[in-house]
Amino acid sequence: MHEQIDHPCVQHKLATIRDQETGHKLFRELAKEITMFLCYEALKNIKTRKVEVQTPLATASCHEIDTDLVVVPILRAGVGMLDGILELVPTARVGFVGLYRDEKTKKPVSYYQRFPPQVSNGTCIIIDPMLATGGSTVAAIDALKQKGAGQIIVICIVTCEEGLALVEAAHPDVPIYTASIDERLDDNKYIVPGLGDAGDRLFGTSH
Ligand code: PRP
Ligand code: URA
Repeated sequence: MHEQIDHPCVQHKLATIRDQETGHKLFRELAKEITMFLCYEALKNIKTRKVEVQTPLATASCHEIDTDLVVVPILRAGVGMLDGILELVPTARVGFVGLYRDEKTKKPVSYYQRFPPQVSNGTCIIIDPMLATGGSTVAAIDALKQKGAGQIIVICIVTCEEGLALVEAAHPDVPIYTASIDERLDDNKYIVPGLGDAGDRLFGTSH
């Protein structure tokens, strides 16, 4: 299952973050803001429990989130989405997957993993701005499943049909939320029109 969030507030911010004139300070702010909107939508079906709350007037029947949330940014660019999620769910735990795409093969290379034990009974949210070929996302889901993760959600800012197809074929149980399904990948496996290299734009580095 995948869902593109078409809300005008998301699409407006997406237009600005794509703009090549947007510098890294504004890019970071927009990545955080877009992530908050995407996360809000992505968590709409998570498990809740009923609680009774005493208001000054009466007892109200309310709902609380009833699952441990573990946010897993794919290093490096996923870190640019972390603050947005933690603002929405401040009690979430954080795990990390270090992956980079090999320049020649475009396949993900794993260099770091650290997860809290709650991955096995909670809800894991993988974050990465770009789901391009899908290889990095598949590797991150594989790593979490090896640690016993049951429920996993992916949030990305931009993706394309090719990447979605790879992830959904490997992990049909994992829903993907995005602000845009773009046209295609170019010869370098960059998303077109995309927004360029998300890590470089977030952190002010360049190739
Ligand atoms: C980018 C991006 C994803 C990956 C997407 O990371 O942040 O992790 O590429 O590509 P894929 O879907 O084809 O696997 P990159 O390898 O540039 O590393 P970085 O975040 O450290 O810059
Ligand atoms: N990584 C990026 O940062 N951008 C792309 O378009 C593809 C991979």
